[in-house]
Amino acid sequence: MIKRSIIAGCGSYLPERVVTNEELSKEVDTDDEWIVARTGIRQRYIAADGQQTSDLALAAAERALEHAGIPASDVDLLVLATTTPDQTFPATATKVQHRLGMTNGAAFDLQAVCSGFVYGLAVADNFIRAGQAKTVMLIGAETFSRILDWEDRTTCVLFGDGAGAVVLRAAENGEDAEQAGETGHNRGRGVLSTHIHSDGATNDLLYVDGGPSSTQTVGHVRMNGREVFRHAVTNLASIVDETLEANGLAADDIDWLVPHQANKRILDSTARKLGLPAEKIVVTVERHANTSAASIPLALDEAVKDGRIKTGDLVLLEAMGGGLTWGAGLVRW
Ligand code: COA
Repeated sequence: MIKRSIIAGCGSYLPERVVTNEELSKEVDTDDEWIVARTGIRQRYIAADGQQTSDLALAAAERALEHAGIPASDVDLLVLATTTPDQTFPATATKVQHRLGMTNGAAFDLQAVCSGFVYGLAVADNFIRAGQAKTVMLIGAETFSRILDWEDRTTCVLFGDGAGAVVLRAAENGEDAEQAGETGHNRGRGVLSTHIHSDGATNDLLYVDGGPSSTQTVGHVRMNGREVFRHAVTNLASIVDETLEANGLAADDIDWLVPHQANKRILDSTARKLGLPAEKIVVTVERHANTSAASIPLALDEAVKDGRIKTGDLVLLEAMGGGLTWGAGLVRW
């Protein structure tokens, strides 16, 4: 029998240093009013000098294990979604694996930029369904501040650093069917479905102008903001429709939408298209800014720990990022 994966716990970590729009406007030609009106962002967290993506990832992963009550020795796959690895190689995931004390299985990085967490959810869920892993540590972690051009006000005001993690494990006997007392496709706990897409024809809308094979430099983020915005609104609406349709559900059935936190205007537009009231959307973008692959697990962790998301709730996760990549996951918590 195919097993579902259950999210057993979550955790997150934000660096200590907060940089407000006000502070940023002393270094960059911008102002709080512009940033808030265009994006909803009021502040972001920035990693300390020497603090690397693996440090943020490790802190989030340790908190997720503690929340799940699962020892690191049980984890047999670690997937780290990141665009800002410590080094070109080895995979940052292997560093986290070692420091976490995970000795089993495998660890690898996954690159889908801001869609990294939903891509990782698809990978983790499919490994569990296929029986190739029993307990997966899925992390989204970024030190995005390191690839920003701090002289480009159109991009540097939008991003921040952080990490979030979830532990997925194979459902125990019947656990994935017992929640609603039924065995139908959409009943019971766990990851109900994942959906991922990409379109390389739109590479040039959001990219880094460097890399080991092209320039031998790390490079900086470049973006056509307007076009990215336009694609985000369309692609996110279509991925949400695809997910609901695959599960025979309507927008009304969703208890919580936990979107990638890029921009408050994109979140509002997706919610409007879905007809979801603002109270059902978990929003952290005003405090975290866009933390790329970390933004969904950071928001998820906040809403679980403050008691908004409860066992049995239907939670929809969605994201879009460079590539362009986009995707969604539906979870019965
Ligand atoms: N502060 C002040 N002014 C700024 C600014 C800043 N940080 N950044 C740009 N501007 C100026 C521009 O120079 C331009 O001035 P001009 O008209 O004199 O040339 C003006 O503001 C409008 O710029 P524009 O780029 O047209 O703004 P916009 O309304 O498209 O908003 C974004 C810009 C980036 C906020 C918006 O396009 C967006 O949110 N895009 C999606 C980005 C995103 O979420 N990416 C990540 C996806 S994972």
